[in-house]
Amino acid sequence: MTLSGMVWDILRFFYLFMGEWVIEKEREMKVVAFNGSARKDGNTAILVDAVFKELKKEKIKTELIQLAGKKIRGCTACRKCFENQDKRCAVKGDIVNDCIEKMLEADGIILASPTYFADVSPELKALIDRSGFVAKANQDMFRRKAGAAVIAVRRAGAIHAFDTINHFFFISQMVVPGSSYWNIGLGLAPGDVNHDDEGIMTMRTLGANMAWLMKKIHE
Ligand SMILES: Cc1cc2nc3c(=O)[nH]c(=O)nc-3n(C[C@H](O)[C@H](O)[C@H](O)COP(=O)(O)O)c2cc1C
Repeated sequence: MTLSGMVWDILRFFYLFMGEWVIEKEREMKVVAFNGSARKDGNTAILVDAVFKELKKEKIKTELIQLAGKKIRGCTACRKCFENQDKRCAVKGDIVNDCIEKMLEADGIILASPTYFADVSPELKALIDRSGFVAKANQDMFRRKAGAAVIAVRRAGAIHAFDTINHFFFISQMVVPGSSYWNIGLGLAPGDVNHDDEGIMTMRTLGANMAWLMKKIHE
């Protein structure tokens, strides 16, 4: 090969390499949120929206999936996910595999729930158990994604629900941003959380910190 041929090859390599790098850097980041409430567009959804507002300011795409009214069942402990290792739950016929796909393609995951008897809703717990087991069966496939919990509560039990969600993030090797308080908003009837100024501010700060963290992870 001639010297000029070699120079051209090197230049071509750098051009391709830089192109890939620029494409990867400019890829829009995305956060997907799952609202486990039985009530669509209630307090939990309002709190998630407050987090989304800050993410959108930082040009991060957002999507809210509301579990209300959707078919979703718990883990059957069949352990087929460990046999198949195909990043899917072997239980078909409900929305869990669609949710897992959304989680996989996102850079950040928000799990949001109202407090039901001092814990998350059964729908959200079903999503946690099944997507969490599939992730474990597939080399912690949510590893180093950002994760945030959001909780609506009338009076008490929110911290326990908050912990339930964080257990999922931490055992999945995910990275969790903090806020100025635990991520909790107070309200009973739909819309009540709008009167909880500190709760809304906590969500806004969470959104700002989640955006910051995702950019650091992406660097
Ligand atoms: C089945 C059920 C159980 C609940 N348990 C609690 C509870 O343990 N503690 C509490 O403070 N509020 C409890 N609540 C009230 C909800 O957490 C509260 O109304 C919340 O704002 C609902 O959020 P949403 O509008 O997104 O559904 C319960 C509500 C329901 C329907």
